[in-house]
Amino acid sequence: MADSDTYLRQPWRTVHGIPMVSAFALNWEKVDSFQACPEDIVVVTFPKSGTTWVSEIVDMVLKGGDPEKCKQDDIVNRVPMMEFAAPGKMAAGSRVAEGGTEQLEAMPSPRIIKTHIPAHVLPKSFWEKRCKMIYVGRNAKDVAVSYYHFDLMNKFHPHPGTWAQYLEEFMAGRVAYGSWYNHVKGYWERRKDHPILYLFYEDLKENLHREIAKVAQFLGQKLSEGAVDTIARHTSFEAMRDNPATNYSKVPSDLMDHGVSPFMRKGTTGDWKNHFTVAQNERFDQDYVQKMSDTDLCFRTQI
Ligand code: A3P
Repeated sequence: MADSDTYLRQPWRTVHGIPMVSAFALNWEKVDSFQACPEDIVVVTFPKSGTTWVSEIVDMVLKGGDPEKCKQDDIVNRVPMMEFAAPGKMAAGSRVAEGGTEQLEAMPSPRIIKTHIPAHVLPKSFWEKRCKMIYVGRNAKDVAVSYYHFDLMNKFHPHPGTWAQYLEEFMAGRVAYGSWYNHVKGYWERRKDHPILYLFYEDLKENLHREIAKVAQFLGQKLSEGAVDTIARHTSFEAMRDNPATNYSKVPSDLMDHGVSPFMRKGTTGDWKNHFTVAQNERFDQDYVQKMSDTDLCFRTQI
């Protein structure tokens, strides 16, 4: 069993050609061979795009909008992260010392599964079983800012250096899970022949009720207006920030230091304007146009 010091603040490892969190990469064959069930619901995102937010929404929708049921356990247990592994360490607030694959194998159906794995690396079983997937995309600039702050506080990742250095790494796809550009485009393409509900963080910010109703419809759940209202209240940024079952505050500070930057940081669209210099923004935009020239996928950087 690996010692935690052997993977905290360690450089990325490579898995199927993409940079991966060192601790997660150690037993990747368990991920590759993971067996999905047709009833599994997959919440899949590039990191920092609203994964926790939509995981909470999906769990609440399946529980008919009852907030008390959702508060009974931490989000990491209700919606385990498939590729999570911390050999020798207890997972963040989790009941199991093993990784996400073991945690999921012990769960009853229908399981809600969180993952950040890009479409071309996602275990085959999810495609073969035609599992429903909910993808959440968020504009690249806000993702880069959020990811930078996350890397500052999350010791599973290497230290990100300065913001200027980090932005170069992000643009080059040298961050965990690789290229944001390929990630968002990969699932956008796959949605043409697979049941994928493609959501946007900015749309959730704009009209949470509407997006919750979309999730319920996609999952075939009938919810009253009152239940949708309850879910919207329970999944507002402020409610999730103050809820110990969703705000990651139970994770030991040697793994995640909320004093450096809280997991529930700002929860807004457009925070990138407080971080990008004019020169960085121009360079980013030029590069963005090239990398996204082969898709009709559009993001909003402000609402
Ligand atoms: P910021 O760092 O910009 O605040 P993920 O869950 O994919 O790691 O994404 C984390 C980002 O989503 C963080 O963004 C976090 O604050 C934001 N977030 C989490 N819950 C949210 C909510 N209920 N409403 C809005 N943003 C939320």
